[in-house]
Amino acid sequence: MVGAPDQRDVFGVLRALFDITPDAMLAVDEDGRIALANAQAEQLFGYAPGALHRQPLDALLPLPLRYMHAAHFREYLRRPRVRRMGINYELQGVRANGEKFAVDVGLSPVATEHGPLAIAAIRDISTTQRGQQSARGSRLDNFVVQIGRLLLESPDHWEAIARIPEQVMAALSIDAVAILATDWHDKLLRVRADAGIPAEAVVRLAPILSTAGCMHHFFVDRDLPAMTMDALARAEFAQLQAELAQMGFGDCAIVPLFGLYEPSGLLLALAHAPRRFDHGAVSFLQSVANLVASAVQRRRAEVQLAHAQRLDAIGQLTGGIAHDFNNLLTVISGNLQLLEMESENSDSAATSIASARHAVERGADLTRKLLAFARRQSLRPTAVAVRPMLDTLGNLLTRTLGETIELKITCVDALPDVQADPTELETALINLALNARDAMPRGGRLALVAEPCTIPVAGPEDIPPGCYVTFTVTDTGTGMPAEILSRVLEPFVTTKESGKGSGLGLPMVYGFVEQSGGRMTIDSRLGYGTSVRLYLPVATNPAIAAGARPDTRDAERHATVLVVEDDPEVLNIAIAFVRSLGHRVLVARDAGQALDMLAEEAQVDLLFTDVVLGIGMDGIALAHAARLARPGLAVLLTSGYPRGETGGVEDASEFDLLRKPYRREDLAAALTRALGD
Ligand SMILES: Nc1ncnc2c1ncn2[C@@H]1O[C@H](COP(=O)(O)OP(=O)(O)O)[C@@H](O)[C@H]1O
Ligand SMILES: [Mg+2]
Repeated sequence: MVGAPDQRDVFGVLRALFDITPDAMLAVDEDGRIALANAQAEQLFGYAPGALHRQPLDALLPLPLRYMHAAHFREYLRRPRVRRMGINYELQGVRANGEKFAVDVGLSPVATEHGPLAIAAIRDISTTQRGQQSARGSRLDNFVVQIGRLLLESPDHWEAIARIPEQVMAALSIDAVAILATDWHDKLLRVRADAGIPAEAVVRLAPILSTAGCMHHFFVDRDLPAMTMDALARAEFAQLQAELAQMGFGDCAIVPLFGLYEPSGLLLALAHAPRRFDHGAVSFLQSVANLVASAVQRRRAEVQLAHAQRLDAIGQLTGGIAHDFNNLLTVISGNLQLLEMESENSDSAATSIASARHAVERGADLTRKLLAFARRQSLRPTAVAVRPMLDTLGNLLTRTLGETIELKITCVDALPDVQADPTELETALINLALNARDAMPRGGRLALVAEPCTIPVAGPEDIPPGCYVTFTVTDTGTGMPAEILSRVLEPFVTTKESGKGSGLGLPMVYGFVEQSGGRMTIDSRLGYGTSVRLYLPVATNPAIAAGARPDTRDAERHATVLVVEDDPEVLNIAIAFVRSLGHRVLVARDAGQALDMLAEEAQVDLLFTDVVLGIGMDGIALAHAARLARPGLAVLLTSGYPRGETGGVEDASEFDLLRKPYRREDLAAALTRALGD
């Protein structure tokens, strides 16, 4: 019979209904106990058939929900209506084994003669939820792929980066995004791209982010994926948090752009609403940040390489010219000295000759500086004890710098000796101090600090691993604008008026340091000051006390000198000088001739040879061969290039070297020294 169900049979009807619905169904009485459960419910919650009967509904709810549920349930039975639960919070069920899962619950009241009942239809939505999450995930993955392609395919990576903020905003439906990065030469964050945020606001944020220590924070704690608003509060970045709140942002996610050794920038994502950055959003931001970081890294490496290559190319060009120039100067100055000897009685000739010689000296000084920059100067590296050197230097600088500059020299105790040419090292430090002085026309502070520094295998910058002593010269002067800073190592770049600056100071220091196996870094902030650091390798053998020079016995001895030189004019000068010093001269034009003469001539006391010879062996090889033929033969090398140019420093270090252009007195002294050894 079809009709209104018999009230007494309400459970029969419910049971029939429960059996045919695919959802899990429960009927709960006023006391919150389960009056009826279908098989789907038992299965869903993991109970044996019949086991749910008379159980409190609470048993199916996770603990935190039980209390809330009790209140809801009472309220519901007082004013029953059909509705879905869990609008404002996520509903969860608990299985018999304790496992929690997301549920959707529909509730419907039924009045029976046994009192009100609540009928609940329960659906497991955990799989649907995962489905939604993975749909969002693949949408975000698509954005990552797009951004990756953008960065790869765009010829100008900054232009590509400029388009990323909008993509990120669209992907996460958030309100603002900015990308900040440091320059390769300093640690200040600059805004590289932004969207959704007023320009002046983001410009204001950059220095706050730079100084707040966010980057350092990430550096220390590399596992931290991002800083959100909550994390900012916890990590005591109160100023940043306040600033963002004032701009109307309820949540943020700051993700580092990791460089090779430390963060090179930050990706900043902002939302007006609170709690906008969940796990999925943060890992999306991380992916984007990694893409941007690797693009920046690649670009930075390209810039550094281009810079190094440019300096190298200029160095080679400069070195080549300077070398040829030196040969010309040798000829000029030699001839001038010969003229001087011949015109002893003419005052006017003497004046002209002196003026010409002065010009030659200036030319020689210029080529010496250029060769220094080109890493081709003649260096005599030895172990240098740092503290005594700095003491001497301190006295000199105090007198030179003037009273308005406060000089402070710091040298840690037990500093190892450095391996460097002592004179050139001193010149380099004086150069840096004079630059600092020039940058502080109204006075200021100049600090020179020497300290040890070990570069680990995976060290910063491009400094090879090893033990160094660093010399850091810091001033509180004008600092340099980026355009100057990026070019100061090139010769003739100067901002000083003509006559005051040559633009050769820093290039010389750079060449000297590089040639000595060290490195140089410059940090400068316009308006704040400059800091130049020299890394020089630690000496492996300790310094011997100065003053142990070989004595110059038999200075006036008349010796037989074999002169080897391929340039005829330089050769003429050499012959004239050696003769004028009272020695007998033998001449060879190349190494082959020279070895023949050594084999034939019984009497040769000294071999005086140019390092660069036209054909056959070079001068160093010749010197070695000659020593083999005649052990103990005195040898003097001469070159417009330094030691080490053709075959490595250690190859030629056992021979004295006379730098071109040389004066007659220089040659006299060098011959005496070589003969005396
Ligand atoms: N400590 C410094 N502070 C500010 N600017 C500097 C400093 N050192 C060097 N510079 C800048 O670099 C330029 C090149 O320096 P340098 O090679 O020593 O040549 P010069 O001193 O002859 O100009 C200087 O003209 C100056 O503009
Ligand atoms: Mg200078």
